[in-house]
Amino acid sequence: MPVHWAGRPCELDKIKIIAKKYNLKIIQDASQAIDTRFKNKQLVYFGDICTYSMHPLKNLNIWGDGGFVATNNKKIADKLYLLRNHGLVNRNNSKIFGYNSRLDTIQAVVANYKLKNKLNRVTKKRIKNSKLFDRLFKNNPNVKTIKRHSYLREVFHLYHINVKKRDQLQQYLISKSIDAKVHYPIPIHLQSAAKYLKYKRGDFPTAEEIANTTLSLPVHEFIREKDIKYVVNLVDKFYSK
Ligand SMILES: Cc1ncc(COP(=O)(O)O)c(C=O)c1O
Repeated sequence: MPVHWAGRPCELDKIKIIAKKYNLKIIQDASQAIDTRFKNKQLVYFGDICTYSMHPLKNLNIWGDGGFVATNNKKIADKLYLLRNHGLVNRNNSKIFGYNSRLDTIQAVVANYKLKNKLNRVTKKRIKNSKLFDRLFKNNPNVKTIKRHSYLREVFHLYHINVKKRDQLQQYLISKSIDAKVHYPIPIHLQSAAKYLKYKRGDFPTAEEIANTTLSLPVHEFIREKDIKYVVNLVDKFYSK
């Protein structure tokens, strides 16, 4: 289950090779990655199922909760149609036990409208904003940004940097009215919900290091060039203190 975190596609061709070797299905969590491409192709091309979220904080956001599933597999699609509506094939007959996972009609209308009329602009603006952040942070030794690859179309649900003194920097930015956030402070193996798996601190040092140093900066489509410069200047100022 690869998670395309922050809107950056995972290394899907490598994952596909592993899945083939071990006869595994690939279910992609693309909640943060709508409009992403891997080697110019839609993510669903590389797996069996791709799930998307349209939660109000996502790049394509509706007016409440909602999401959708993409698949190129007719059998899976038919099963999903059943599962989302109590397994009903008609008013009176349930073929399988399912759920109520129907997308509200109003939310579906909003989603369709935004897919056609808004998403492209949102994606382009987030990419543009992130490129500017990348360029301005390039020569800052205190700020680490992830290496970009031309075969990945990242859609920057989040723009994150990795920094020392992360918590202090976050507080400093918040004091200047910048909505700096940590996505996410606790890695999954240290969540209470995962207690039964018996992992402990130190078991996944890379994930833990990222959780301790990551900071997300506002990158959404309403941010202007001058806002980005302001944020970058504040980060510079913090480390020159
Ligand atoms: C990576 C990831 N997976 C899953 C979800 C869950 O999405 P939803 O709340 O729409 O079910 C989210 C949203 O917060 C997410 O960011």
